[in-house]
Amino acid sequence: MTSIRHFIEDWRERFIGAGIEDARLNAELLLAHALDVRRDDLLTRLDESLPAEILRLANTLCERRFKREPVDYIIGRREFFGREFHVEPGVLIPRPETERIVELAQERLPRDFAGVAVDIGCGSGALAVTLALEFPKLRVLATDLHAMPLGVTRRNANALGARLWYAQMDGLAALRPAPLFDLVVSNPPYVLPEDFAGLQPEVRDHEPREALVGGKDGIEICLRLLTEIAPRLKPGGWLYMEHGMTQGEQLREAATRAGLKQARTVQDYAGLDRILEARA
Ligand SMILES: C[S@@+](CC[C@H](N)C(=O)[O-])C[C@H]1O[C@@H](n2cnc3c(N)ncnc32)[C@H](O)[C@@H]1O
Repeated sequence: MTSIRHFIEDWRERFIGAGIEDARLNAELLLAHALDVRRDDLLTRLDESLPAEILRLANTLCERRFKREPVDYIIGRREFFGREFHVEPGVLIPRPETERIVELAQERLPRDFAGVAVDIGCGSGALAVTLALEFPKLRVLATDLHAMPLGVTRRNANALGARLWYAQMDGLAALRPAPLFDLVVSNPPYVLPEDFAGLQPEVRDHEPREALVGGKDGIEICLRLLTEIAPRLKPGGWLYMEHGMTQGEQLREAATRAGLKQARTVQDYAGLDRILEARA
């Protein structure tokens, strides 16, 4: 018979051997998922034996992780800004550094702000849904180049009680170049094509390449989006765009060239240049 303690220890060692970070946490998360309990609940049940069926399922989940499938895709969810988002292959797993965009918007706008916002490239809907919930009077348009992420965003919005508008489109070019938005947020693809092969296997082999690689020099999509965003921001409106840690200066200059003001780069909690803030 295999106990919970034994299962966790066994897979922790195997994950460490495979170079997987947070080995124990991964083993616990996957076992908790197989048992359909919270991870904390395992700690009070460490000496319980695992039924054969659960053991089989938990081993299958851990074998997938062992092959470097991201744990969030295996369990089908990821926390963002304190809420659980459904994720699956085909949408980017939301990252903690992207939460900074929501915090920055909260620093600039009151909770009852009743404007119009757009999230360009919504993926799982992490930003669009969170903004709609944190600013209950904000009308939020979620856009993506692909239909599949829009479907996941809709699923998350429905599950979390957010009301959004949706549009499948490339950037903002299809919208008339008039001041439509009070707030534009975007976490566009910004990885350099030549850096893609060197990413962790979890990212390189499982997350969607088109959500990550940002065209020529990694910055092409960000630069194009800036020229599309500038004429569509209302005077005084805010832009927040996530970018790679070496792209801050180029994007500040491009934002200013596009006609935006007060362009500045905001660091993430690791101190890396990460977000462009600018104003119309
Ligand atoms: C880095 S992911 C960000 C997903 C989500 N906003 C987040 O922060 O977790 C980039 C997203 O932008 C979408 N995308 C890529 N190029 C785009 C374009 N030209 N117009 C609109 N969306 C685009 C991708 O399909 C992907 O869902």
